[in-house]
Amino acid sequence: EGQEPEFKEDSPALCFHVHATSGRARATTLHLPSSRKVQTPIFMPVGTKGTIKALTTEEICNDPALNCPIILGNTYHLALQPGTELVRDMGGLHKFMRWDRGILTDSGGFQMVSLLKLAEITEDGVEFENPFLKDSKERMMLRPEDSITHQNNIGSDIMMALDDVVSSVTDNDERFEIATYRTLRWLDRCYAAHTRPKEQNLFAIVQGGLDTKVGGLREKCLAGFRARDKMIPGYAIGGLAGGESKEDFWKVVNQCCKSLPDDKPRYLMGVGYPLDLVVCSALGVDMYDCVYPTRTARFGVALVPGEAPGTLRLKSNEFSEDTRVIMEGCECAACKGGYSRARLHTLLKRNNPLAATLMTNHNIAYMMYLVRGMRKAIMEDRYASYVKDFINDQFRGSA
Ligand code: GUN
Ligand code: ZN
Repeated sequence: EGQEPEFKEDSPALCFHVHATSGRARATTLHLPSSRKVQTPIFMPVGTKGTIKALTTEEICNDPALNCPIILGNTYHLALQPGTELVRDMGGLHKFMRWDRGILTDSGGFQMVSLLKLAEITEDGVEFENPFLKDSKERMMLRPEDSITHQNNIGSDIMMALDDVVSSVTDNDERFEIATYRTLRWLDRCYAAHTRPKEQNLFAIVQGGLDTKVGGLREKCLAGFRARDKMIPGYAIGGLAGGESKEDFWKVVNQCCKSLPDDKPRYLMGVGYPLDLVVCSALGVDMYDCVYPTRTARFGVALVPGEAPGTLRLKSNEFSEDTRVIMEGCECAACKGGYSRARLHTLLKRNNPLAATLMTNHNIAYMMYLVRGMRKAIMEDRYASYVKDFINDQFRGSA
């Protein structure tokens, strides 16, 4: 496994090494605070409220099939419940969860899109109605400074700047323009509010809609970040995976990866379809997160290699007498434990909570298996053929 680097008092919160490239794909290591180490490409499972639904910390950490080095939490949700002062008083989220691996927290920016009807966005920040108390006047104000205070309380290894996020399918050019420049202004407010730069990294998020033109909004945002590069330890690409066409999506990812510096990590937010990981890593993305693998697991959908569409809908009656495990050779609790598709079908049909646990185990194990395979192919400089094989597999059997 190699030596873990020692972080001294005055050392930066992030060391980043690019070990190998294959085309534009990269195999890197992020050394996070407290010797936490993340090898990329990596998928980060989402534990919105500080827990990956249906799994114990023990499983995510110690099961060799899962062995996740970093997970994601949400500032907005943790601020609502249980409150970040409480998390701070419990010694931070790592201690509270008994999780000594990496934690990345999203800033709350995305909730401007997902909770748009509850959010009022101004230059000062976002004000959310409390979804638990719809009729009450109690509101949550999330300014850039508040988001950072919450994330400092949480103690995440990687914090995200508060960005002004607009749904990619919004038909309002002016709104995108305001949001892009506001994201830059908010970034400066975030860095000014950050009290623990030696213990926690603060990443910037590129916005700018789908405008990839020369002199367009994505370029404006990237230029703004370039001017601030000294204070930015890593970058995310935001504002995507919101219903735009694949062509638009790839164009933006391609443009951002080409423009962002090679010596810092690149994180594509909200992306978690296996095919998207494989393609976007070819463009130079290192990190991903998405609720998809865990959420779809709870709905009875298992991720599998080969054969279109790369999923098994185990609630479907075609599996009611299928004695095979989800994926031959998979080391997850479900497959290694010998749970047949028929057994999972029954458990899912009855809403047995064990089904959610087993399915989540499998899907996270699958994502970890996927990124390990991607990394290996990059290290061996055969990523182009890896991508070709993956796409051939994934579309075999489809028209
Ligand atoms: N999650 C998915 N997309 C985004 C984004 O653009 N910004 C933030 N903060 N989170 C996201
Ligand atoms: Zn499995």
